[in-house]
Amino acid sequence: MTEPTASPSYVVIGNPIAHSKSPQIHALFAAQFAGNPALAGFCYDRLLAPVDGFAASVAQFAASGGRGANVTVPFKEDAFRLANLLTARAQAAGAVNTLQLQADDSWLGDNTDGAGLVADVLRHVEIRGRRILLLGAGGAARGVILPLLAQQPASLTLANRTLSRASQLVEHFQANTTILLQACEYGAIAGQFDLIINATSASLGGERLPISNSVFAPGALAYDMMYGKDETPFLAQAREAGVVLRVDGLGMLVGQAAEAFHLWTELRPDVEPVLVWMREQL
Ligand code: ATR
Repeated sequence: MTEPTASPSYVVIGNPIAHSKSPQIHALFAAQFAGNPALAGFCYDRLLAPVDGFAASVAQFAASGGRGANVTVPFKEDAFRLANLLTARAQAAGAVNTLQLQADDSWLGDNTDGAGLVADVLRHVEIRGRRILLLGAGGAARGVILPLLAQQPASLTLANRTLSRASQLVEHFQANTTILLQACEYGAIAGQFDLIINATSASLGGERLPISNSVFAPGALAYDMMYGKDETPFLAQAREAGVVLRVDGLGMLVGQAAEAFHLWTELRPDVEPVLVWMREQL
């Protein structure tokens, strides 16, 4: 008689999911703690869920021994609704990218995207006291606002093609912070910024954003949540504006995974070698 195949303890759930790099990232994290009893039986796989079948897939996963999951497109809002308990940063994000099974079989929903971004930015520059320009007002932008504000920047300006979406986010987050928040359209961005973050999906279509080169302060860091083998349109735009410090979102991807790994295992992996390896694979 053959043994039943052990179900993976952790998965990344999405649709599509075949392209996800999370299994490689988590395998590399786990390898850093080889022999650690906290990781006994740790395994991580991909799980393709039907677009209308997220909750059922999660239930099935839990029944087969699943302990935690990363959640990606298009299920982050489904995971937000499914979670019985939410961390403050998931609540603020309105989306969940990490689920952890609790002792009573309920799900804790967390969002580690913003922490991943902050950790990666901090590898390059300070955030405290800096002027931040966040480009975009969709889910990706919303997900990073609370962790950015927690770093005590001087100000946070949200610029978006559709002004009303940026204004809504400002209204939502200004209620709980004394840090100056502002919303504007791309053509109305006033002043200079030390940290300019692209959270739009414009790069996906190869498009540039209609922002002035003057928004980049001397010594500014331009950060694109997107990444790829080639320079992203936003980072090309920043380079042409004379910005020296330019970083793409690969470190954010590894950083959010490290935060999820820590939630599940209480271990803090070293992101640096994993990032180097991931860069080589692009
Ligand atoms: P996500 O979850 O990736 O943030 P989203 O909620 O659909 O996705 O938000 C996409 C963001 O990219 C929005 O800020 C969107 O601007 P609008 O709110 O005006 O739609 C922005 N975006 C997408 N394509 C863009 C483009 N070609 N130029 C400028 N902004 C763009």
